[in-house]
Amino acid sequence: MISEKMVKALNEQVNAELYSAYIYYAMQAYFHSVNLDGFANWMNVQTKEEMTHAAKIFDFLNERNARIELAAIEKPQKDWKNALDVFEAAYKHEQYVTGRINSLVELAKAEKDYATESFLKWFIDEQVEEEASALKIVEMLKMAKDSTGALLMLDRQLGKRKFGEEND
Ligand code: FEO
Repeated sequence: MISEKMVKALNEQVNAELYSAYIYYAMQAYFHSVNLDGFANWMNVQTKEEMTHAAKIFDFLNERNARIELAAIEKPQKDWKNALDVFEAAYKHEQYVTGRINSLVELAKAEKDYATESFLKWFIDEQVEEEASALKIVEMLKMAKDSTGALLMLDRQLGKRKFGEEND
């Protein structure tokens, strides 16, 4: 039996994952506005990934016979200074999500909810990857500094990312 407290926290995580999708969608729109379509593609794939994260929790709640309650999604930021500013924000956001997942695991442990604890294992592993992929691009953008050539090269590389494949 899943507790009310756990259901509420997982429902909030569905919202947090959808908000993540919304942020990355806004970042995609920003990159299109500055003609960096490869970066926009990377964000498009990321948006889709976040939707699958929300769906995983949605399905789990459903499986546990818990009531799913969807809430309003906060409006995301619209503009950023440059590509580095975007990816630093993305990295920071992923660190925040990791903190949320850790809190969910702590709650599952406190509630002796072993099924939820086991379910969350996937998210713990996923967050390692999520943080690493955002940080890698932050580091590459720092290396590129003010070089337009390097930025365009990176744009080409990020344009190759496909949904359902390993991150670059
Ligand atoms: Fe759903 Fe990017 O964490």
